[in-house]
Amino acid sequence: KYQRQYFMPPKVTYDWVTKDYIDHPPIWCSVDLRDGNQALIEPMSLDEKLEFFTMLVKLGFKEIEIGFPAASETEFEFARTLIEKNMIPDDVTVQVLTQAREHIIKRTFEAVKGAPRAIIHLYNSTSVAQREQVFKKSKEEVKKIAVEGAKLLDKLAKETTGNFSFEYSPESFPGTEVDYAVEVCNAVLDVWKPKKDNKVVINIPTTVEIAMPHVFATQVEYISKNLKYRDAVTLSLHPHNDRGTGVSDAELGCLAGADRIEGTLFGNGERTGNVDIVTLAINMYSHGVDPGLDFSHITEIGETYERLTRMRIYERQPYAGQLVFTAFSGSHQDAISKGFVWHEQKKDGGIWSVPYLPIDPKDLGREYDGDVIRINSQSGKGGVSYILKTNYGMMVPKEMQADVSYTIKDISDREHAELSPARIYQIFEDKYIHND
Ligand code: KIV
Ligand code: ZN
Repeated sequence: KYQRQYFMPPKVTYDWVTKDYIDHPPIWCSVDLRDGNQALIEPMSLDEKLEFFTMLVKLGFKEIEIGFPAASETEFEFARTLIEKNMIPDDVTVQVLTQAREHIIKRTFEAVKGAPRAIIHLYNSTSVAQREQVFKKSKEEVKKIAVEGAKLLDKLAKETTGNFSFEYSPESFPGTEVDYAVEVCNAVLDVWKPKKDNKVVINIPTTVEIAMPHVFATQVEYISKNLKYRDAVTLSLHPHNDRGTGVSDAELGCLAGADRIEGTLFGNGERTGNVDIVTLAINMYSHGVDPGLDFSHITEIGETYERLTRMRIYERQPYAGQLVFTAFSGSHQDAISKGFVWHEQKKDGGIWSVPYLPIDPKDLGREYDGDVIRINSQSGKGGVSYILKTNYGMMVPKEMQADVSYTIKDISDREHAELSPARIYQIFEDKYIHND
């Protein structure tokens, strides 16, 4: 009963050599305001998009896909507002998405007229399923859609005021024969004829993720080696997360030759979302590489994100979730509190190695108090002593620690609830100071 047959990605042979970590950041492109926004129950209003855009700029994004201007009036107006009110900083390039259809391309250029820097992002679907089921077109006909679109972009960019460059995506890439995807991308590149000082972006989306990350990375390597004008092409990836491996796709894809990543904050986006750039960037940071994005106020960023998207950040979301640095269990608490002492005494030579904490939560603006050691029925003496010491400056003598912790744990067990530092102190005071 479990032997359903599904489309399998084409076979690949592996060649790429992995490094232990990514040693330089890719170009980051936020697609929060387009892919993220189009997947929201209630898409952002113009003012909300403006606030989100400002946050992305503050975080350090230099490329931001601001929408699909031909799709709605709000999207169109948003592009016009940014341009007409000079809201695009000098070091930021905005990007807009367009299908390879004449009236949509024309409307897109109206939206970005006068832009100081804009990438026009052209796409059409190339997969076997889309060719056969949706468009009922041959490979040649589908390639022609891309080429005609590329030609129109080239023409309108010359006729429209503003500063434009191009991006092409073979949408539904995972269901596309890899050599055919390269053929289409190369046909588009032959129209644009990019140069080293006038690059274009070729963007490989896992529109719907269907392969394991090493398969995708091997496809990326194949593409990187077989694209024409390679020195003049920025090879971009646009992972989605249908199999839960968007981050792995991006990381292995970078090792396999990609230069740029399109993704969103906290992985918002179609279905299971786009790749989470927060996780990617902080993973890199934890390997000692500056990602070029500033997530030192993660809680504030998360709150703004939740307010504007009306989405929720899962408690176990890497780095940002409420519980991701929290230890309730006794052995973890004991190891962490000993690790803190070790770290305070600089025994680690400044290298962060506190057990159970992959990075220092303070680097993300999070606090140890309240974020790290919390007390419930699973907790141990190390944790309870830590709470009394850090919150009330009380050093519980070693001989008393077990008794104190059993008293606290028993109450938590009976009440089936977490105990706050104030409550712990009150219990301690009642039993050990007032002898109640
Ligand atoms: O996921 C996707 O394929 C897209 C394209 C439009 C790039 O969002
Ligand atoms: Zn997408």
